Amino acid sequence: MEKIIIMDFGGQYCHLIARRIRDLGVFTEIIPYDADLNKLIELKPKAIILSGGPNSIYDNGSPKLKKTFFKYIIENKIPILGICYGHHLIIHQLGGKVESHDYKEYGKTHLEIIDNGRLLRSLNQDEIVWMSHGDQVRELPKGFKILAKTNNCPIAAYGDEVKKLYGVQFHPEVGHTPKGKIVLENFINIANCKKEWKLENWIDQAIEKIKREVGDEKRVILGLSGGVDSSVTAMLLHKAIGNRLHSIFINNGVLRKNEENEVQEMFRDKIGFTNFHYIDAEQLFLDRLKNIDDPEEKRKIIGHTFIEVFENKTIELEREFPNIKYLAQGTIYPDRVETAATSKSAAKIKSHHNLTLPDDMKLEIIEPLKDLYKDEVRQIGLKLGLSEELIYRHPFPGPGLAVRIVGVIDKERLDILREADTILIEEIKNTGIYERLWQAFCVFLPLKTVGIMGDYRTYDYICSIRIVESLDAMTANFAKLDWELLEKIGIRIVNEVKGINRVVYDISNKPPSTIEYE
Ligand code: XMP
Repeated sequence: MEKIIIMDFGGQYCHLIARRIRDLGVFTEIIPYDADLNKLIELKPKAIILSGGPNSIYDNGSPKLKKTFFKYIIENKIPILGICYGHHLIIHQLGGKVESHDYKEYGKTHLEIIDNGRLLRSLNQDEIVWMSHGDQVRELPKGFKILAKTNNCPIAAYGDEVKKLYGVQFHPEVGHTPKGKIVLENFINIANCKKEWKLENWIDQAIEKIKREVGDEKRVILGLSGGVDSSVTAMLLHKAIGNRLHSIFINNGVLRKNEENEVQEMFRDKIGFTNFHYIDAEQLFLDRLKNIDDPEEKRKIIGHTFIEVFENKTIELEREFPNIKYLAQGTIYPDRVETAATSKSAAKIKSHHNLTLPDDMKLEIIEPLKDLYKDEVRQIGLKLGLSEELIYRHPFPGPGLAVRIVGVIDKERLDILREADTILIEEIKNTGIYERLWQAFCVFLPLKTVGIMGDYRTYDYICSIRIVESLDAMTANFAKLDWELLEKIGIRIVNEVKGINRVVYDISNKPPSTIEYE
């Protein structure tokens, strides 16, 4: 399939560029700015986009393209579009002049088109674009012409139509640049890139690929949590190899109310997974978590116990089915691509629950979703027949309710929390705002306070309600909900959940707080 490569210079919008181009029908991959030339040759891109980045071209050690790399691109006439830092870099590496400025131009700006060229085709003379830069291009090398300017930036877009090298100072990938999509589409046309990226085709191809890889006899195991990624992976495998897929669902004792039954009903009873293996390990997990109040310790215990239970089941299944040769995982593209902009800590959040089986098992890994973004996975899940409820369910952490009970965990606290959380979600869904929230959940605070119910004094625990809006969980704001809705939720929780007599609403943002409590 023809593709466009995005070279990552540390810009926060790298994934957004990749998503936009995919939305326009062309497959994309992100590679680091200092990737090997062999990687480029292997990928055979139809075009390359150089992303923005936080550096100035003149910073010590600022990222540059390797000379061999750049030479190869130019010699092979691969079209390039530089965005922001990428726009400076092309000119700098070709011997033009870039000027460093201390002040920054930031936000919505008027763009005046001087010459549409092919890149700005069908844009009006005056357009709004979104800028964020310090450096500026001041002098273009031979062969380039100025396509557009702004009040503060005399070369806001340029092009060499013969070599097909283009640069834009503004960000065409963000929503604040209303005609950005047209600019990106023009670039796709300049590169003569076929629009072959369609999710429908992807599904058929992915199923065929699994069939080819696994063959007619081998079997695959998969840890199915009921989350979007593992559920969609399971559906693809089920379509490809039917009952040669062995899905393992572990009840780790810290799931939401009725979750273990819902997942079984859905996959085993409704969809017809014959080899669905339910493991009730609740007691084992709760025994190991007994009296543990340190958040990291809880996470470790849950992660290690999960792997141990999964391994034991796998060994048992391998004895029965020696043809089990593969382990499928629901890894998606952002999990895999550590862009220059992705913080190491984000990658770490996931590491503890990634399955790492012992070497002697020698299972090969299958990751059918490894090239997809989350919303693409969701679309595929819907097309494969999974319910909207499952597909759009809020994220739920691997260590589950254990990180939503502050301090020590026991069955009683878990049950209290499950009841409260069910009420909260029910009310949020009834109001029709569930989809616009990133997460909504209850937290159990191990603090007792005095209350009064009827004629009785109560002395019970506190429930904190955590509801946040976010785009990617890196930052989050508490949701400013209607007081009456919060009041209704609070009243219901105190009235209906034995053990809670006070409800508080969390008004912290991330940063400095995190979304989960532990
Ligand atoms: P924090 O609490 O760090 O959470 O602001 C950010 C996002 O990550 C989710 N989260 C986890 N997800 N395993 C996961 O799969 C974990 O251990 C974990 N911890 C936090 C959290 O729900 C939020 O969406």
